[in-house]
Amino acid sequence: MNMHSSDATTAEEAIAAQEALPPLTNEAATAVAMQNTLLTPRFYTTDFAKMDAIDVTPVRAEWDKLIAQMKSDPNKGHFKKNEDWDHVDWDGMEPKLKAEFIDFLISSCTAEFSGCVLYKEMKRRGSNDDITTLFQLMARDEARHAGFINDALREAGIAVNLGFLTQSKKYTYFRPKFIYYATYLSEKIGYARYITIYRHLEAHPEKRFHPIFKWFREWCNDEFSHGEAFALLMKTDPKLTQSFSNKLWIKFFLTAVFATMWVRDHQRPAFHDALGVDPAWYGQEVFRKTSEITRQVFPMTLDIDHPRWIPTLNCIQDANVQIAAGAKQGGFAGKLKALGGRAKAGLGFVSLLTIPVQRNAVPDSPRLEPVY
Ligand SMILES: [Fe+2]
Ligand SMILES: [Fe+2]
Repeated sequence: MNMHSSDATTAEEAIAAQEALPPLTNEAATAVAMQNTLLTPRFYTTDFAKMDAIDVTPVRAEWDKLIAQMKSDPNKGHFKKNEDWDHVDWDGMEPKLKAEFIDFLISSCTAEFSGCVLYKEMKRRGSNDDITTLFQLMARDEARHAGFINDALREAGIAVNLGFLTQSKKYTYFRPKFIYYATYLSEKIGYARYITIYRHLEAHPEKRFHPIFKWFREWCNDEFSHGEAFALLMKTDPKLTQSFSNKLWIKFFLTAVFATMWVRDHQRPAFHDALGVDPAWYGQEVFRKTSEITRQVFPMTLDIDHPRWIPTLNCIQDANVQIAAGAKQGGFAGKLKALGGRAKAGLGFVSLLTIPVQRNAVPDSPRLEPVY
């Protein structure tokens, strides 16, 4: 029998295991994964030589501990269907929920795979043992995560063509420091998202309309470790988090990541309704956990209780609805409507950036354990 992606020890093996599965012609799913908008997951490339030159000596003790833990691979074999995987009645699922849930799975699969592609490339191009070891371990995890979501999609007769995505999706260039901020945040917010859903469904098991949520606890621990690795990488160079301009960049990335999550989640009302989760509550809960965690390395947190915070996020969300309506309408009037929406969203984003931050004294040792 062929290997399953969950048992793979490298990203390459996991991807090969997925590709060996019977082909599904699902251009629609891959087309969704190929989209590049402000709201869809992107693929990144960077200055790999510069990243390869990082010296982890200043954080050696914590680094070695983290790598040893990742090498011990507690989640090997976890990301595969077993007897806990309940039957999914795709045909009986309410159509709006089904559409939103499939969209959620495709976008999650793309986001997981985006990490895999970036990490795998760093491993391939690098020659620094510390760096290539870390990136190979993270690529392994992300390939398993993407493979598992694809397994769930296959039951609905859909799959994202991972090989095709690697070849054909557009890559966005980010300087290494932007990769650190963006990837660190996406790993930590990923942890907060997965664990918040998991805990919610633990308390309300009747709302668990799909078995994949049962896997979220171990899943979020992988993301937590990945975030820890980026926290250590940032710790090797204090300028990254302490210089005036970099503080502005950190604020920018925090705001962009939080606002994107808000808008994206509000696009899936039926999905959140089925889970029994209010997207506004969920957003704030995830922001709170993420803010608390990022105090390990960022010199500030956003003031998510500021009176302008939620109203402005809602305004950006309305603007986003207007952009979509304009694009659908087409013609000159549609273009105008979309343009107006874009201007509104841009102003909203600037307004969020003007909310004063809360300063944070960063601890000497950044290492945390998942506590939620
Ligand atoms: Fe992941
Ligand atoms: Fe991750």
